Amino acid sequence: MLKNIHVFTALISFTLFFIRGLWVIKGSTMMQQKWVKIVPHVNDTVLLGTAIALTISIGQYPFTDAWLTAKLLALVAYICLGIEALRIAKTDVGRGLAWLSALVVFLFIVSVALTKNQFGFLFALM
Ligand code: HEM
Repeated sequence: MLKNIHVFTALISFTLFFIRGLWVIKGSTMMQQKWVKIVPHVNDTVLLGTAIALTISIGQYPFTDAWLTAKLLALVAYICLGIEALRIAKTDVGRGLAWLSALVVFLFIVSVALTKNQFGFLFALM
């Protein structure tokens, strides 16, 4: 159940971030909608909450288990790149690059989750 909520909120997080990136790049007024400012944060809070609950339920933790350290650090990178893409970057190229990088980092997190290996899909490149 916990894992289902975690995976579901991860999917919503990806979808909302993908759409918001497109809106920002297109200069859409959708970004001013109230729900767009609230729903992603509520969703991401649930995602993080279930992440913490899952670590406790399986007894594995970041800075003890490498794959969870990788997930946590990649999550921080995803958040920073997301803020850059949606708020800070001033040019289309800057926004686009930060947005694409954040999407790749997100897919990396999913690959780490599925393989339980800190290198995730990078393992295939080694
Ligand atoms: C954007 C952020 C995240 C995404 C996209 C994500 C994605 C996923 C996915 C897809 C699974 C299911 C893997 C499977 O089927 O076995 C999962 C499980 C899990 N995730 Fe995350 N996750 C994220 C953040 C985190 C964070 C920050 C932590 C904790 C540091 C975390 C801890 C866990 C744990 C403990 C499991 C359960 C593993 C198990 O059942 O053995 N997740 N995550």
